[in-house]
Amino acid sequence: MALCFPQILLWHLFTSAYELNFSGEFQIGDEIRPLDPQSVASVVQYGIYRSGRNYQATGYSFVYNQQYPNGLKNYTSGIIHRVLVTGLDPDTLYEYQCGDPSIPAMSDVHYFRTLRSTPGDYPSRVAVVGDLGLTYNTSTTISHMLANHPDLALFVGDLSFADLFLTNGTLSDCCSCSPLEETYQPRWDYWGRFMQILTASVPTMVIEGDHEIEKQADNQMFTAYTTRFAFPSDESGSTLYYSFNAGGIHFVMLGAYVAYDKSSDQYKWLENDLSNVNRSVTPWLIAAWHPPWYSTYKEHYREAECMRVEMEGLLYAHGVDIVFNGHVNAYERSNRVYNYTLDPCGPVHITVGSGGNEKNLTLEHADEPGNCPDPVSTPDRFMGGFCAFNFTSGPATGNFCWNEQPEYSAYRDSSFGYGVLEVKNQTHALWIWYRNQDSYWAGADVIYIVRQPDRCPC
Ligand SMILES: *[C@@H]1O[C@H](CO)[C@@H](O)[C@H](O)[C@H]1NC(C)=O
Ligand SMILES: *[C@@H]1O[C@H](CO)[C@@H](O)[C@H](O)[C@H]1NC(C)=O
Ligand SMILES: *[C@@H]1O[C@H](CO)[C@@H](O)[C@H](O)[C@H]1NC(C)=O
Ligand SMILES: *[C@@H]1O[C@H](CO)[C@@H](O)[C@H](O)[C@H]1NC(C)=O
Ligand SMILES: *[C@@H]1O[C@H](CO)[C@@H](O)[C@H](O)[C@H]1NC(C)=O
Ligand SMILES: *[C@@H]1O[C@H](CO)[C@@H](O)[C@H](O)[C@H]1NC(C)=O
Ligand SMILES: *[C@@H]1O[C@H](CO)[C@@H](O)[C@H](O)[C@H]1NC(C)=O
Ligand SMILES: *[C@@H]1O[C@H](CO)[C@@H](O)[C@H](O)[C@H]1NC(C)=O
Ligand SMILES: *[C@@H]1O[C@H](CO)[C@@H](O)[C@H](O)[C@H]1NC(C)=O
Repeated sequence: MALCFPQILLWHLFTSAYELNFSGEFQIGDEIRPLDPQSVASVVQYGIYRSGRNYQATGYSFVYNQQYPNGLKNYTSGIIHRVLVTGLDPDTLYEYQCGDPSIPAMSDVHYFRTLRSTPGDYPSRVAVVGDLGLTYNTSTTISHMLANHPDLALFVGDLSFADLFLTNGTLSDCCSCSPLEETYQPRWDYWGRFMQILTASVPTMVIEGDHEIEKQADNQMFTAYTTRFAFPSDESGSTLYYSFNAGGIHFVMLGAYVAYDKSSDQYKWLENDLSNVNRSVTPWLIAAWHPPWYSTYKEHYREAECMRVEMEGLLYAHGVDIVFNGHVNAYERSNRVYNYTLDPCGPVHITVGSGGNEKNLTLEHADEPGNCPDPVSTPDRFMGGFCAFNFTSGPATGNFCWNEQPEYSAYRDSSFGYGVLEVKNQTHALWIWYRNQDSYWAGADVIYIVRQPDRCPC
């Protein structure tokens, strides 16, 4: 029997399977020999549920290496398979297996439902979570999420935290060593196996976080992220930022650890992408990236300020409705805000960075006595730049932090959990923050996010 760890993408395509067991295991150590990806076929057999898996699609396969020059153990992956399946019907339950039928070695049968796609249809439950990791808390988050039957899942960065482990597999006790120079790539394999329970049946999209950078020999970065996941990257030209539609929602997924300034490729792509959005086709416009702009926790406070200064105006001009972030290991929802000022046409910023991670929850707020960080200490080491100046207007004028919960911060809670966006129609979406310690059906922060297209034309 083969193992299959698929990531299903949008309704018209999915990719399948990394590291089928018959494809060979990963190797780690001194004398690794990369496997020959051509040695097994990449096949998905599929069909509509209970009418036979009579269709077959063939893809391609590859391996990747994570190598270190300084005597640390090197890694080479098992064979990773990617199969694009097209021509699926919307809103239809499919069954499929992946593997190489000529050996024969096929996976278990998995099932998934394609998204609805007629105009005016919305994915009814979009689950959003960041900073998952692979802990008992991750396990609780994912089982709660599955109990709520999402039809789309967004992972907003920091997936396996393989870079918190040394190459000998030990969890590093130094999470803030700069930069993290070792990773334990088998964590990705363990994480993929664990996540199969979700990713084999729920379309899942991911965007990178700082823990995906994973610099290795020859300054290569994001290797595991780019190889293990699939993205609609042909249109954007990068796996580090891209966009897609899911029914009446246009999602833009942005890269915080790749150039975002106004002369960058990413910024130019974003301008073009946003100007092509037709709000009668996709009324909802949702952006997601890893480090939040509007977090009031002490950890990572105003860390992504240069990105905000560069890109916030563009997102505002195009009427982005909601922003999802992770990075801060806690939950926070903002009021509609633009440039630190309450604005009925600004987006709601939602941080859901407490999927499980390998560290602990963030508890302290920057506005509590003694918690305001020194501004020069705030820029992120990967993002660089310095843009976080003291406020020049509003109640915190002259200061770097507020002395009470800022008016733009609507709700904050240090718990593990995830959120679900239930889009009802072109103006109303119900957002629910679920905490792991509560029952899976009991939301802790429940709010309608209401668009006002007449008041906020774009
Ligand atoms: C892969 O196959 C080998 C040999 O058949 C077996 O020992 C191993 O447990 C399998 N690995 C997994 C993850 O099933
Ligand atoms: C790992 O790979 C690098 C780059 O190819 C090489 O320089 C190094 O010697 C290898 N390390 C080990 C322990 O084999
Ligand atoms: C995280 O998981 C551990 C182990 O199951 C559990 O003891 C702990 O209460 C969880 N933490 C939270 C905040 O839910
Ligand atoms: C891994 O390396 C670290 C640092 O050298 C060491 O403290 C730890 O004991 C090692 N773990 C194992 C399992 O060898
Ligand atoms: C937007 O989509 C609507 C509905 O399909 C269509 O009638 C309209 O022409 C489109 N607008 C633009 C600018 O393409
Ligand atoms: C944002 O606010 C700051 C300080 O009030 C101001 O200097 C800046 O021009 C504003 N930016 C935009 C794009 O409105
Ligand atoms: C996480 O935080 C809780 C509460 O502050 C504490 O009891 C626990 O020991 C911490 N766990 C770890 C792994 O640091
Ligand atoms: C910024 O505000 C902090 C207090 O939040 C203060 O200590 C610092 O002097 C201010 N810096 C400037 C340049 O005004
Ligand atoms: C949109 O959904 C909300 C909540 O279900 C409902 O109150 C509202 O009337 C709906 N609007 C339209 C135009 O259907």
